[in-house]
Amino acid sequence: TAIAVGMIIFAYLCGSISSAIVICKLAALPDPRCHGSGNPGATNVLRLGGRVAALCVLLFDVIKGMLPVWLAYRLQLPSFSLGLVAIAACLGHIYPLYFNFQGGKGVATALGAIAPIGLDLSVLLIGTWLLTAFLSGYASLAAIISALVAPFYVWWFTPQFTFPVAMLSCLILWRHHENIQRLWRGDEKKVFRRRRDRA
Ligand code: G3P
Repeated sequence: TAIAVGMIIFAYLCGSISSAIVICKLAALPDPRCHGSGNPGATNVLRLGGRVAALCVLLFDVIKGMLPVWLAYRLQLPSFSLGLVAIAACLGHIYPLYFNFQGGKGVATALGAIAPIGLDLSVLLIGTWLLTAFLSGYASLAAIISALVAPFYVWWFTPQFTFPVAMLSCLILWRHHENIQRLWRGDEKKVFRRRRDRA
């Protein structure tokens, strides 16, 4: 249990490193908390004009979710504790200790935290996100659809992780409530535009 508690705290501290805020500062880009959607995440950094920066944010946010879960797995923690470690990393991203508890929406971090379950599952989730994002143009809709289907995919591959993944999905859906309202009203901003739509 001491190891499990230690790993949960470590995961929360890793998750709390808001790479969007740090990388935007380093790259002299506008603060993602005050510009665009106001969300410190890869999507908003892309919107603010930093393609390379957005890719770095995405990679870092995935890794900070993946690392604690992978370590906990190596330490042979039981699946219940692995689930708690994954949730702690995402809670860190969403409510970061170092940034006034005002963080992002947890999509990339959740993907990283789920990745150690298996490559096939990760590919399926990334495929779902990409397909929805390119068909609709909305990163948020892609995240919402992926969060909705993730528990079913996991139930199919590794049923013992269905509950923690469903918890992650609930967190992500809750953090997208403003996006859901904007999508409903039709004023959500697209991040991907089809070539023929570009003016
Ligand atoms: O991963 C976050 C994405 O789903 C939505 O981001 O900036 O459009 O609120 P944003």
